[in-house]
Amino acid sequence: MPILDCRGLTRAWGALRAVDDVDLAVEAGETCAVIGPNGAGKSTLFAMIAGNLKKTAGRVLLDGEDVSALPAHRIAARGVARTFQITAVFPGLPAVENVRLGLQAHDPLRRRPIGGGAALARGAEEALHWLRRVGLADRAATPAGELAHGDQRLLEVAMALAQRPRLLMLDEPTQGMSVEETRRTVDLLGRLIAEEGVTVLLVEHDMEVVFALAPRVVVLHRGRKIADGPAAEVRADAGVQAAYLGGLD
Ligand SMILES: Nc1ncnc2c1ncn2[C@@H]1O[C@H](COP(=O)(O)OP(=O)(O)O)[C@@H](O)[C@H]1O
Ligand SMILES: [Mg+2]
Repeated sequence: MPILDCRGLTRAWGALRAVDDVDLAVEAGETCAVIGPNGAGKSTLFAMIAGNLKKTAGRVLLDGEDVSALPAHRIAARGVARTFQITAVFPGLPAVENVRLGLQAHDPLRRRPIGGGAALARGAEEALHWLRRVGLADRAATPAGELAHGDQRLLEVAMALAQRPRLLMLDEPTQGMSVEETRRTVDLLGRLIAEEGVTVLLVEHDMEVVFALAPRVVVLHRGRKIADGPAAEVRADAGVQAAYLGGLD
């Protein structure tokens, strides 16, 4: 049974069908990239899956259970973590505190640190572990807003991983990064995905990143799914090239 199973997902804004009747199933252990020109509906699709946006039609199943009507925090509690296309850290809080909040999202009990200091210290140690995993341990005390842009995006990944998600959704993780930052981030994400054994759904604009990370590629065009398959096949698909790789974007 797939971890994620979207059936007929649709979101309309007035006459515009931003996402139009999309079926998408992701199996445990897969890394699947969603690509498509600007405005294709990628972020809208993500928002509906994560419960951040109401669906016009269609259903989302997690492990076979219909979660279509659940709000974002209930979907997060079922093991779905996401990052946003626009970086969403708490800028005034130290990096490590941002991750600790991610831990709390995973475990609501930690919102009430009845254990006092001991529980808090444990949370900080775990948060530090995830910062280490993304190479930011030495920036733990730095306010998130003062981190370089690329480091803020990695912090978001640490926040998401700290929730120990079964499904990790990354929306354009390398957006706004320099070529060098992008290269480092792709290496890091590749290693993290392999080592954490997490299932990944990835929206990405940069084709190099897509082909480096995702064995499977789904193409959206004007809200519709126009291709879905092994990366090499999708890359060679004439319709995909006309719609996207050919440079309509
Ligand atoms: N809140 C909104 N209100 C109206 N239209 C929107 C809204 N959000 C997105 N859209 C439109 O939906 C389409 C898909 O947007 P989006 O999902 O952000 O695309 P992508 O992430 O693939 O670039 C675009 O035409 C966009 O203008
Ligand atoms: Mg987008």
